[in-house]
Amino acid sequence: MTTATTLSSAPPSTTLPLATVRGLRVAYGDRPLVLDGVDLDLFPGELVALLGASGSGKSTLMKALTGFAPVNEGSVRVAGYDLTNLRHGQLRGLRASVGQVFQQFNLVGRLSVLTNVLTGALHDAGPVNLVGGFSAAHRRRALELLDRVGIAHKANEQARSLSGGQQQRVAIARALMQQPRIVLADEPVASLDPKMSHAVLDLLHDIARQDGIPVLVSLHVLPLALEHSDRIVGLRHGEMLVSAPTRELDAEKLDVLYADVDGHDDRFDEEGDHRGAALA
Ligand SMILES: Nc1ncnc2c1ncn2[C@@H]1O[C@H](COP(=O)(O)OP(=O)(O)O)[C@@H](O)[C@H]1O
Ligand SMILES: [Mg+2]
Repeated sequence: MTTATTLSSAPPSTTLPLATVRGLRVAYGDRPLVLDGVDLDLFPGELVALLGASGSGKSTLMKALTGFAPVNEGSVRVAGYDLTNLRHGQLRGLRASVGQVFQQFNLVGRLSVLTNVLTGALHDAGPVNLVGGFSAAHRRRALELLDRVGIAHKANEQARSLSGGQQQRVAIARALMQQPRIVLADEPVASLDPKMSHAVLDLLHDIARQDGIPVLVSLHVLPLALEHSDRIVGLRHGEMLVSAPTRELDAEKLDVLYADVDGHDDRFDEEGDHRGAALA
């Protein structure tokens, strides 16, 4: 289907990957393929940026890693779970192992910041009364995580009263509350201003390194990916055209991802045109 050569190189280490995708093909119902032959390894301690134009399949790949998208062909293994062969009850365990962060934060606005973080523990707490139903240990841990993401002083505020950047920090703390073995962040900075975007990506990168877990982050602003990731995986029309360490890539090499995409070219937008900065 494509004539472009995949830019790829060897995996970063001999450590076993926490997620492995081979020959993944995904279609929604009878529609055309949305992912067409994706291979991906996610190793402990690395932040991998997932790039591609709008509609290239980034969100679908994230969903395939958590059992929210159909796997038509190929294999997907995440945190020891084989998604093409899940046994009864395993889907819940898989999703408890994967911390997720979204563009719109997905907090419960009327609840306190602390309670939002505590909901991350629901995966292993069983049925819980949201009012006073969490253990002291859970509350202690939630406060420690809020401290780690720099907003412990907001613990008792309503989530909706926080700025976007602060809300995303709460969402990250909630994901960590799950004690995830891997973190997926789908466009986590698309609603944030440039300063906040850098801060949130720094935080996600620190989490990858300090906790020794893989963090997969989809982004559409190229300079952010080049600055904050260890590796870049790039999709175009569902095909994986790039998979390489970030230090081996630059804006020009990543052009292949956007070459034939119509319409607005938004890859350098970061509240302004950063094309000059990216190409300088
Ligand atoms: N639930 C769905 N049903 C049918 N088509 C879908 C669904 N979700 C996504 N798609 C289609 O799959 C393609 C890839 O979408 P998506 O994974 O959201 O890309 P991205 O996140 O890179 O913008 C798009 O053409 C989109 O319209
Ligand atoms: Mg998307």
